[in-house]
Amino acid sequence: STLQGFRASFLDAIADPFYMPESECIRYFGDGLLIVEDGKVKEIGNYADLQAKYAEVDIADYRDRLIVSGFIDTHIHFPQTEMIASYGEQLLEWLSTYTFPTERKFSDRQYAADIAEIFLDELLRNGTTTALVFTTVFPQSTDAFFEAAQRRNLRMIAGKVLMDCHAPDYLTDTATSSYTETKQLIEKWHKCDRLLYAVTPRFAVTSSSEQLSVAGRLLQEFPDVYLHTHLSENVKEVAYIAEAFPESKGYLDVYDQAGLVGERSIFAHGVQLTDQEFARLAETKSAIAFCPTSNMFLGSGLFKIEKAKSVETPIKVGLGTDVGAGTSFSILRTACAAYQVAQLRSQKLSPFQALFLATLGGARALCLEDQLGNFETGKEADFVVLNPRSTAIMALRNQLFNSNHPLTLPEVADQLFATLIMGDDRAIAATYIMGELVKFNQ
Ligand code: GUN
Ligand code: FE
Repeated sequence: STLQGFRASFLDAIADPFYMPESECIRYFGDGLLIVEDGKVKEIGNYADLQAKYAEVDIADYRDRLIVSGFIDTHIHFPQTEMIASYGEQLLEWLSTYTFPTERKFSDRQYAADIAEIFLDELLRNGTTTALVFTTVFPQSTDAFFEAAQRRNLRMIAGKVLMDCHAPDYLTDTATSSYTETKQLIEKWHKCDRLLYAVTPRFAVTSSSEQLSVAGRLLQEFPDVYLHTHLSENVKEVAYIAEAFPESKGYLDVYDQAGLVGERSIFAHGVQLTDQEFARLAETKSAIAFCPTSNMFLGSGLFKIEKAKSVETPIKVGLGTDVGAGTSFSILRTACAAYQVAQLRSQKLSPFQALFLATLGGARALCLEDQLGNFETGKEADFVVLNPRSTAIMALRNQLFNSNHPLTLPEVADQLFATLIMGDDRAIAATYIMGELVKFNQ
């Protein structure tokens, strides 16, 4: 077996700070040592306590850096990488004007493979080590994505998009073809190395009730695959669903009647959810991907984080960039936007709550808490080396953060907050996958 050591400041979440005192949820080692064995966490603690035990181990010195668990993006579209920042439209017009013509290109398998490399490079450059990913309706684009992720040994969840109506002919499948193609892809990729499969109907606008039932049938046949879709993002979309599914009680109920709501279901957005829908999501242990940069960019609205994380209806929540409606691949930029969305609703999102959403909260939303999300023994060693002083102004703002000054917990909260609000890809000094360096920025 091979042992590796990392000396740095470490910060991780071990419980949910939306429900417990932050001091019980967050661990901080000002001068810490992380020991990785065969790609997994063996031990973490104070350097002074562990140094003698691991005297023989090679230790990478990151003493003026802050190491956190790898960021988890709970909703993103890899084929939309090239159409980020497309001007002027809200959801439905944005889809027909920009998105559908772009996704058409992904019938070309080589094109999909080329974009998948650019996409994964960008995720890793931004410290995102796991993501839940939309591909396109073309199964060859799903193959291309999984192949690229497998070559890099990444833990990724993805699926072919199901869409059989209200979209151009060039971008639709049928209920029958989506069943056959999805089943083949599940058998090929689910649990292949670190990869996992999500049955991915685009949203209820572009799937017939027959196709939604097919998705439900696939979940019954393969009980440990995921369900990934969009839910209640935009006012016009919700009105359309009420019209198209008059027999349903609401948007979530359309998915519920097809058997798509449950513990391994992740719904992007949920901006327009009713109180009853929040309650149903809590009851079924479903998860929401909160995508603040997308919700602002498309003018969709302000997600009610305090409802989703209330004591009455506790829902698993992660952060999603939702590129290309989202405006950045960076989970730091996304956390900043989440803070701003909370402020616009007179709510607070604390720096440790934001860190939780970006790491352990995302892992829980994706049912990956046993594998990822913090530095507990046995977890996969995907982590990020942050530089809280990556620009001149951040260096000025985060003066307290230097190698010979271990901080108090309130000081760490303050320096982390400034890093979340001001940081971007430049603050990601390095990214590690299973203990191996994959990106080094500075
Ligand atoms: N709803 C259905 N498709 C999409 C998409 O591609 N992006 C977003 N933001 N919402 C959607
Ligand atoms: Fe999306």
